[in-house]
Amino acid sequence: MHYKFYISKSTQHFGDLDLLDMLKDFRKNNHLNQVTGMLFYRAGHFLQVIEGEKHIIETLYSKIARDSRHIEIRTLLEGDIGNRMFGHWDMAYKKIEDIEEEVVTDVDQIIDTYKKIDFLEEGIILKVIKGFYYKA
Ligand SMILES: Cc1cc2nc3c(=O)[nH]c(=O)nc-3n(C[C@H](O)[C@H](O)[C@H](O)COP(=O)(O)O)c2cc1C
Repeated sequence: MHYKFYISKSTQHFGDLDLLDMLKDFRKNNHLNQVTGMLFYRAGHFLQVIEGEKHIIETLYSKIARDSRHIEIRTLLEGDIGNRMFGHWDMAYKKIEDIEEEVVTDVDQIIDTYKKIDFLEEGIILKVIKGFYYKA
């Protein structure tokens, strides 16, 4: 099992209804491909985990990377895992208001720094993934 966690900048404003509409399509595809994960949208940025069979994740990621709805996509963390972190969700989504404040602070820090520095501390990235996971 493989996962990728990336950040990107949206090319247009997405309201909550737009996101839910997009998620309908993502979830349908993901269900078919046994892809699970989570999506954050904050201050014009997406942060997403996708997880599943490695070749499926690689194919999906290259599709996502070409999607004109966002730019400046950068993988923050990826790797092999024994068990899915988001096994119950075809693509979990939470409004940022429903995320613990501490995690939102970490998300903001990632958004502020990811373009300026080459290396982001793994701890903060994992905290964001887990922050979503535990409260989901
Ligand atoms: C932020 C973002 C997240 C996306 N997440 C997914 C996803 O989880 N699953 C998915 O199938 N497509 C996702 N997409 C859409 C893909 O880029 C692509 O449009 C979709 O896989 C359909 O591709 P196809 O028509 O070539 O099959 C995402 C797009 C964006 C902009």
